[in-house]
Amino acid sequence: MQKVQFTETVLRDANQSLIATRMKFSDFEPILSKLDKAGFYSLECWGGATFDSCLRYLNEDPWERLRKIKAACPNTKLQMLLRGQNILGYKHYPDDVVRAFVKKSVENGIDVIRIFDALNDIRNIQVAVDETLKCGAVASGAICYTISPIHDLEAYVKLAKNMESLGVNTIAVKDMAGIMSPKQAYDLVKALKSEVKVPVVVHTHCTTGLGPITLQSAVEAGADIIDTAISSFSGGTSQPPTETLAYSFREQGYDVALDMNVLKEINDFFKPVKNEALKSGGLNPAVMSTDTNALVYQVPGGMLSNLVAQLTAQNKMDKFEDVLAEVPAVREDLGFPPLVTPMSQMVGVQATANVLAGERYKNVSKEIKSYIKGEYGTAPGKINPDVKKLVLGDEEPITGRYADTLEPGFEKAKAEIGEKATCDEDVLSYISFPAQAEKFFDAREEKKKRTVKYAIRRCD
Ligand code: CO
Repeated sequence: MQKVQFTETVLRDANQSLIATRMKFSDFEPILSKLDKAGFYSLECWGGATFDSCLRYLNEDPWERLRKIKAACPNTKLQMLLRGQNILGYKHYPDDVVRAFVKKSVENGIDVIRIFDALNDIRNIQVAVDETLKCGAVASGAICYTISPIHDLEAYVKLAKNMESLGVNTIAVKDMAGIMSPKQAYDLVKALKSEVKVPVVVHTHCTTGLGPITLQSAVEAGADIIDTAISSFSGGTSQPPTETLAYSFREQGYDVALDMNVLKEINDFFKPVKNEALKSGGLNPAVMSTDTNALVYQVPGGMLSNLVAQLTAQNKMDKFEDVLAEVPAVREDLGFPPLVTPMSQMVGVQATANVLAGERYKNVSKEIKSYIKGEYGTAPGKINPDVKKLVLGDEEPITGRYADTLEPGFEKAKAEIGEKATCDEDVLSYISFPAQAEKFFDAREEKKKRTVKYAIRRCD
């Protein structure tokens, strides 16, 4: 009997996609012991946005949150999403920082690290994969799924094989925009299953409405693990519903380890959390609906809304169709990068600039210049030589791995933040989000002082 395993995303991707990662630890603390008993393959609970949001909005130490989740969920693997050499952000960090981050993540409770690079450049995930394996955690190599003339089955299989040779324990297909169709999922998973030995994971979103059918096809093609969200936090820009897929796959004769009664308790718990978010405005009903525009324009939903916002702000919505036509042209010039953050924003801004200036590449952002220089990694395809020449002039593009040009960063950051950081985890928070972390440390210190003052008064 083919087994289908589930990764529950309510604490990370669903939380991020629906309510901008505003769920506090206290919002979900009471249900953690049930999440631990449901039978999930893993519980995705940490990553860039959760970490950032803890420091920026929730006044929580992200490391402490992780330790508390671990204490309450000793039997389920805790999972995080890592942007390879970018860790949790969008710039490249030196190798010592990447290794320290992975090591501390595992020490504080992470069991599975899903590692990806926005360009699918294997050199940008190799150090994180290596350290994850050294720390004894599960390394999952994630392929950013995108559609372009050069992203064919052969290219994906080659990437997966390269990841397998790094030693990854699973390969994850990461369809961040929810554009992977059932047929594409079937063909890709089938190809991966015949060419690589490690289990295949499939991650998608419901944005275009394809999500559940895509997962059905992926499992029929042999996918071992799928990402889903408990039903009250599923659908729309989030993942397909856990209970529905568990029910359906079990009925079709697949081996599903989830306990439906526990899932019901979990969902009953999250329903009022969702209703509260709806009432406060934290959850916009628009993100829960199905939006098929991405299928028409082949542009992720989030990128479309960014373009609309940009053009509206400049009172240029009449240029919308022109900008939409320019997006694939810019993408082709840049060698077909996957439209995932930050590339989606960079391509969108450049397409808008090209149209509004009436001249292509008259204005170029510093990010696009760095990209063409090779600072983000190798472009998946060939960069248009004319554009390259226009943007770089006489400057030479870099050919090696960008992180190799960086000085070690951990000790330097440690010295910089000084006594405000009380442990290495603090230093890593500071490296990842300097301003937010420092503000958090100051507030923590302030609170400690207040507590002490109160204690002294009591002694009087
Ligand atoms: Co996602």
